[in-house]
Amino acid sequence: MIIGMGLTILGIETSCDETAAALVEIDDKQNCTLLSNVVLSSMDLHAKYGGVVPELAARSHVESAIPVIEEATKGIGWDEIDGIAVTYGAGLGGSLLVGVMTARTLAIIKNKPLFPVNHVEAHIYANFINRSKLDGYSLPVKQPAFPILGVIVSGGHSQLVLFQNHFEYTLLGRTQDDAIGEAFDKVAKITGLPYPGGPSVGALAKHGDAYAFNLPKAKMSSVNPNLNILRSTRQASSIKSQSYDFSFSGLKTAVLRQAQELIGEDYTFPSKDLPERLSEAQKANIAATFQRTAVETIVDKVILAYEEFSPATVVIGGGVAASPELRRQLSERLPIGIEYQDPKLMTDNGAMVAALGSFKAFLNQDAADPYSLDIFPNLSM
Ligand code: KG4
Ligand code: ZN
Repeated sequence: MIIGMGLTILGIETSCDETAAALVEIDDKQNCTLLSNVVLSSMDLHAKYGGVVPELAARSHVESAIPVIEEATKGIGWDEIDGIAVTYGAGLGGSLLVGVMTARTLAIIKNKPLFPVNHVEAHIYANFINRSKLDGYSLPVKQPAFPILGVIVSGGHSQLVLFQNHFEYTLLGRTQDDAIGEAFDKVAKITGLPYPGGPSVGALAKHGDAYAFNLPKAKMSSVNPNLNILRSTRQASSIKSQSYDFSFSGLKTAVLRQAQELIGEDYTFPSKDLPERLSEAQKANIAATFQRTAVETIVDKVILAYEEFSPATVVIGGGVAASPELRRQLSERLPIGIEYQDPKLMTDNGAMVAALGSFKAFLNQDAADPYSLDIFPNLSM
């Protein structure tokens, strides 16, 4: 592998069920080139439980972290690696600890600067990877231009973030309860589909009526304190009062009640017995109506934020970004187009961590103390 004159950063990601490591090189024009990308998922271990089991995930990271890093750095000498970036939050405590302790140890023994990375921010930075030495990646041609409206939709997060510049951002809103991906996973359980729910619910939805029932979209009123500060610094005429927070727990309960009603049972009917009582047509209608409503909940807020903040680019990160329904609604309603990152870089991976780390290194952000970097499971944007 021929390395240019840029900075090469190793990214390590273990916040949930993927053990991942990757190398990204940033050049003097800030182009980011993917040099390696290794992701090992422990999803199979969790599938029968319908969701990630934290203890199993952490143990799996212990087994996989070193082999995955070895694979990602194969053929490259440590003298060619300029820094290590690691996810230190948000995520599962036990899982984060494995990645952070591995990165701390490597930073100490290899004498490399250590850059702590926020997982949610990294999902947005995946979109800065615009070149690849690896085959099979379909990457955006242009890097996102600031201001960026970042939409993070995954199994653990649903957030809208406005980035004015690198490392200068304001959280506009976030979910107050479940993430959108979690809601997909729960609806998959109700309709007897496998975990993860997003792809399976999406496939079933194709056979159903997306307007079969009326499912509620939560009305939120809470406004993030930082959003209030941002609004107060803008022209008075542009100040609005809407909330950018989401809620998906009401929608999830509404789906459950709808399913119980369809088979003539009341709210005491156990959800685990629903799949065998619902007909295929009923399941498809549930999937389609839920999917349309959940995606609308996100897209409604994206449109409002676009109107209030006029971003130059809208960027999507997280596993739910693969949803064809999300892409359809966004292209129908958003006045500007979106360049989607390759799906392999949208779900959890080490390259997004390396990409954010590469900007931290390139723009001279402070490195962390490798003897004391701690984890922050509830880290916010
Ligand atoms: O970003 P990700 O890989 O992991 C987290 O950080 O959570 O996202 C996983 C989530 C799962 O909830 C999965 O159901 C959802 O992304 N997902 C989708 C699709 N593909 C994955 N949701 C909707 N439509 C899809 N095609
Ligand atoms: Zn994620």
